[in-house]
Amino acid sequence: MINRVTTTQKIGILTAGGDCPGINAAIRGVGKTAIIKYNMQVIGISDGFTGMINKEYTELNENDLSGILTHGGTILGTSREKPYKGNGKGKPDLRKPLLIKEHYEQMGLDCLVCIGGNGTMKTASLLAKEGLNVVGIPKTIDNDVWGTDRSFGFDSAVNIATEAIDRLHSTANSHKRIMIIELMGHNAGWITLYAGIAGGGDVILIPEIDYYEEKVAEYLLKRANERKAYSIVVVAEGIRVQGKEKSAAGYLSKVIGELTGLETRQTVLGYIQRGGTPSPMDRILATRYGSAAADLIAGKNYGRMVAMRNNTITSIPLSEVAGKTRLVEPDNPLIGKAVGMGTSFGT
Ligand code: F6P
Repeated sequence: MINRVTTTQKIGILTAGGDCPGINAAIRGVGKTAIIKYNMQVIGISDGFTGMINKEYTELNENDLSGILTHGGTILGTSREKPYKGNGKGKPDLRKPLLIKEHYEQMGLDCLVCIGGNGTMKTASLLAKEGLNVVGIPKTIDNDVWGTDRSFGFDSAVNIATEAIDRLHSTANSHKRIMIIELMGHNAGWITLYAGIAGGGDVILIPEIDYYEEKVAEYLLKRANERKAYSIVVVAEGIRVQGKEKSAAGYLSKVIGELTGLETRQTVLGYIQRGGTPSPMDRILATRYGSAAADLIAGKNYGRMVAMRNNTITSIPLSEVAGKTRLVEPDNPLIGKAVGMGTSFGT
């Protein structure tokens, strides 16, 4: 642990990985609490860990943090730079972690706040092991950060996805079609499960539950035979597909069309789920996380990630979070409720 004899703590904030609604609210939460409550100095690092490697940063004052609460994206920029892992091609560049450490020292930081998902928490944990003071804040639409019940960004993504499903109902009904909508979530099915239920999806397919194409087809044909004019199939991008087809919706559309003879159409919602203004719930969660992160730093409680457990803000060691993914539990109560109401999970 690096200890300096200073009266004013100086903190760096970076945002890494895929963006999501609420990041600016979190930056504002940390920054304003740090400045107003604790009289800290705040530095904004550009483009995730790339900014630490290239030493690109700017000081943030209270005014810089005003007016950003409702804005999508991140005022700091982000990147998928993983300093310990490399870009997947060849060996990682071992100078990168060293540069980060060197620049942390040169910038005179007392703590680095890393706002990100699983990959970011892994990097943050490794940096903490090397002696840097680090605090993590979980953000991602995927809601798959281990150790917390909720990451901000998720609620906004579910709202956006639900609205999209809502809009499919009328056009599906007019044309009497099977509508397949693919949602993001990486290897986790959280967005699909929540938006699928909120949007009244007839079939919900998530990576955590093995599905059978024949079962899906059988279910859709049964609905058609029961004179249900249309069906909505909500699928996670991470479900298993066969062959060369990259899109889950594209694959299912083809297979279901072949197996049922029913007319199918597909929609891949994509980055719309990550863009734009955060929902009120995400603004609140990001604000609470940001402010809690500043409290941890003020108490010199480093090497931890702020988290939400049973509706209470808490924190857990980054070493516990690193390298894990929080997937939907197959016995998640929501699944049981949906099955009880006739929803198919393709099983
Ligand atoms: O982690 C957020 C996420 O949007 C995932 O849902 C998706 O799989 C991935 O990022 C897309 O990554 P990229 O921004 O690199 O295209």
